[in-house]
Amino acid sequence: MAIKALRGMKDILPPLSEKYLYFLQNASRLAENFGFKYIETPILEETALFKRSVGESSDIVGKEMYQFIDKGGNDVCLRPEGTAGVVRSFIEHKLDRQEGNFRYFYYGPMFRYERPQKGRFREFHQFGCESFGEQSVFEDANMIMLVKEILEFFNIDYTLKINSLGCPKCMPKYKTKLIEFLEKVEAKICEDCARRKATNPIRVLDCKIDACKDVYVDAPKLLENLCDECKSDFSTLQELLKANRIDFEVDIFLVRGLDYYTKTAFEFVSGHLGAQNAIAGGGRFDRLVEFLGGKPTPAIGFAIGVERILDLIELPQKQREGVYLGVMIEEALPLAFEIASNLRKKIFVEFPYKKKSLKAHLKGADKTNTRYAAIIGEDEFKQKSIWLKDLEEKKEEIINIEEFLKRFGD
Ligand code: HAM
Repeated sequence: MAIKALRGMKDILPPLSEKYLYFLQNASRLAENFGFKYIETPILEETALFKRSVGESSDIVGKEMYQFIDKGGNDVCLRPEGTAGVVRSFIEHKLDRQEGNFRYFYYGPMFRYERPQKGRFREFHQFGCESFGEQSVFEDANMIMLVKEILEFFNIDYTLKINSLGCPKCMPKYKTKLIEFLEKVEAKICEDCARRKATNPIRVLDCKIDACKDVYVDAPKLLENLCDECKSDFSTLQELLKANRIDFEVDIFLVRGLDYYTKTAFEFVSGHLGAQNAIAGGGRFDRLVEFLGGKPTPAIGFAIGVERILDLIELPQKQREGVYLGVMIEEALPLAFEIASNLRKKIFVEFPYKKKSLKAHLKGADKTNTRYAAIIGEDEFKQKSIWLKDLEEKKEEIINIEEFLKRFGD
């Protein structure tokens, strides 16, 4: 039987791959405008990295990791997300020992062994940004602003949801209150929530089961239990968003599926995607650098799910561009080959290695959507010239090859 791509993984072929590039080029440009620099980290990391950062109790680590022992006996894992690797790298290169802000963006495949469905894959791509060293809540607003700019560039409608997950001062007190509440309602909640009560109680607030959701309406509210600093940061963030005309909803049930978050958490969702409607998610992770062995460093980031976003993007209508170069006699092929190589230093050239009729060449030019058709027939070959047609302006001329090269080549 023919071998196929694994379930939940797919090939990215043109024209979809053109959309990937279109997204990547423009998202990167915007991230650079915001001061982010490109970074790559390995796809394979030690399993312990994800256990310690994303969290043992999370679904990602508990159920979805592509984990195996390599030939050297190391317990390794295909990265399920990008933040942990970037933080590991930040510490490994001692950037936590330097003063200042460090802003990085990345793009690449992530792997989660989830049940595949529309918008949910086992291999998917994220475009992510992580910012280190900035405590100011302006940076929280700045990250949200960057996602907004990216989504708006591609004309994507979104709803922004924000929440605050508190800090080590207020979160433990809230957790105690929540556990007390969960103990009282234990009979009414699902098995997963009963387990989360012991491992990571705030994750119950994220449960998708209606019966549980009904119960948690009466749960103590995290936002009402924030310490003064978290409260003030969260209200400043809201003021900044309002002042910059960014609509948002405060969602007290937004807790995110990864354990490293503190304070601001946010998600951008789309109304056009069905069940898997989160297009981007992120938040502060002020404790993670220290937790992974580095110097305490405030940090915040987000990741955009590229597959989901591409479902919402239209490629702009392509303009005719480049030159279609064709020959009508066999002997002109070497000359045309030389011309094509020269032109390609600057522009796109379509060049079939075959003599054809003028009509066939013009058809080829239409198919490849080139702006010009440049054809060498018998007469042109003898006179060292070329028949050139501007297919947009519908003008034709015969020019000598030298002039042609000057116009289009180097
Ligand atoms: P996340 O919410 O797990 O966050 O993933 C971010 C985005 O990746 C989601 O909003 C979604 O669009 C996309 N995504 C997640 N899982 C899948 C899947 N199975 N198939 C397709 N798309 C998917 C993170 O990963 C954090 N590292 C974000 C972050 C960066 N927080 C701070 N810095």
